[in-house]
Amino acid sequence: MLRTHTCGELTEKHIGKKATLCGWVDKRRDHGSVIFIDLRDRWGKTQLVFNPESNREIHQVAEKLRPEYVIRTHGLVQERPKGTENPKIPTGKIELKPEQVEILNPSETPPFEILDEMLVSEELRLKYRYLDLRRPVMFTRLKKRHRITKLVRDYFDEHGFIEVETPMLTKSTPEGARDYLVPARLEAGSFYALPQSPQLFKQILMVSGFDRYFQLARCLRDEDLRADRQPEHTQIDIEMSFVTEDDIISMVEGLLVRVVQDICNVQLKTPFLRMTYQDAMNRFGSDKPDLRYGLELVDATPTLGASELKIFQDVVKQKGIIKGLKISGRDFSRGDLDGLTEYVKDFGAKGLAWIKVSASGFESPIAKFLNADLQEKLKKIFEVKTGDTIFLIADEWLIATTALGALRSRLAGELGLNRSKELKPAWIVDFPLFQWNEEEKKIDAVHHPFTAPQTEGLAFLEKEPLEVKARAYDIILNGTEIGGGSIRIHQEEVQKKVFKTLGIGDREADEKFGFLLKALKFGAPPHGGIAIGLDRLCTLLMGLDSIREVIAFPKTQKGACLMTEAPSKVSPKQLKELHLQIKV
Ligand code: AMO
Repeated sequence: MLRTHTCGELTEKHIGKKATLCGWVDKRRDHGSVIFIDLRDRWGKTQLVFNPESNREIHQVAEKLRPEYVIRTHGLVQERPKGTENPKIPTGKIELKPEQVEILNPSETPPFEILDEMLVSEELRLKYRYLDLRRPVMFTRLKKRHRITKLVRDYFDEHGFIEVETPMLTKSTPEGARDYLVPARLEAGSFYALPQSPQLFKQILMVSGFDRYFQLARCLRDEDLRADRQPEHTQIDIEMSFVTEDDIISMVEGLLVRVVQDICNVQLKTPFLRMTYQDAMNRFGSDKPDLRYGLELVDATPTLGASELKIFQDVVKQKGIIKGLKISGRDFSRGDLDGLTEYVKDFGAKGLAWIKVSASGFESPIAKFLNADLQEKLKKIFEVKTGDTIFLIADEWLIATTALGALRSRLAGELGLNRSKELKPAWIVDFPLFQWNEEEKKIDAVHHPFTAPQTEGLAFLEKEPLEVKARAYDIILNGTEIGGGSIRIHQEEVQKKVFKTLGIGDREADEKFGFLLKALKFGAPPHGGIAIGLDRLCTLLMGLDSIREVIAFPKTQKGACLMTEAPSKVSPKQLKELHLQIKV
């Protein structure tokens, strides 16, 4: 090694000894003629002190040192003078008095100072990611992520799982996103798809009798990006044979209890809360509700359906609902209310009615349609007090609940209710198997087409597919879906029926998933599994807002890597080899 110790290692027990350190110049402070330099590496910082009176030559070298120079230095470990110790760091009682300094590599002036707390745009951080990652806080995050993956590997190893790598160059896996395609050089016009998940391979491994599989799997999806979505993400992917929902659920609970205990020093209570999809939507307007706060939605259909307001009457006639949300502790201005009305329109709602409860009664554009009796009833069901505001949406069930759910989480954010450090996991179960895709006028799978229907639903799979429930479960934490899985279809017949409901004919099914259908014919065991988003889990456990903070080299919202400048153009020769022509 070029060094005898790291920059985080020397303490008072080394006083009087010699040491050689290597690292980056973190800070240089000139105190008159004496120069102090903090030398940094991933292990910590050590103060170097250069006094011209004791060594003029070395002091001259120190004068040349600038932030981010890489140096190697050899010298004496000495006690810091009384009153200059830094109790916040392990090396805070000592300093190194260099006898030799070698500049291993100079550095250009960095575009930003390497500080844990800094006001620098994310763009600049991503462009110079190697400098951003020098910030101790970034190293700590990636180290914690490493710790989480180690805990995951140990846990599954202890429970008899084996980690199997599945291909990156494969065929399309229908997880609902667009595929990234890779042209096949040796077969003109053919493409590999990068895996959206290892879904089909892990099922095949069950057919092969592996019984318990796991993988820290890279998954690639060409979808619109958000704070909790990246084009490449990592899943803690598992699959088990001869199991029911409860087996998978308790296996995952065991994992999360262990990880949360280790990383957050919090003991999660098991079993986690379980809530049906229907309940989650009715109570919170979301299939991933943040359970750190209440703000439950209230069904006002029976009360307001009887009002004189035509819109309400019409909605009830058409089997829609009138849902409401009460907010206390905030006085909304007209501008606020207009803004919120626009906001719910993004979720399909046609409008938003509001009622301010003042000492003199209801203040609301719809107040005149609400007689005294109705007002009393509303006050009761919403349990209002003076100063509260009631928001109402009348629409189809899904639109009314979803739009109010979005309003709930937006207002909770504005009221600071989502800042609590509490961890509130829950399982959402009894999802529908299918959903109606209004845009394309077709039926889609809510999870993926390999999810088993609940046995009671098998009989009306063909006649009333939208009524069939799935043997699927999502795990949510503080308003984020951190994982999802299901018991799979293991019988070819049922799989074919589900494909048919989805409008996937025998031919298409055979082309796309023929290998799976075939495998199901060779004694496929009952099986099921789940995948947990590792990036999302890390983000939540570290209390961060974006998954980009726990990924070493993330992409921007536009899917670009600002450091490598990917994606980028390729040469005509490469295109030719791939039998491709670019038309723009
Ligand atoms: P699903 O598509 O629900 O299930 O994904 C599982 C979990 O992966 C995370 N996730 C993402 N994280 C970051 N960026 C993304 N673009 C992204 N997409 C998904 C989420 C999500 O809950 N094969 C099934 C699992 C199974 O059925 O076993 C699957 O992939 O946390």
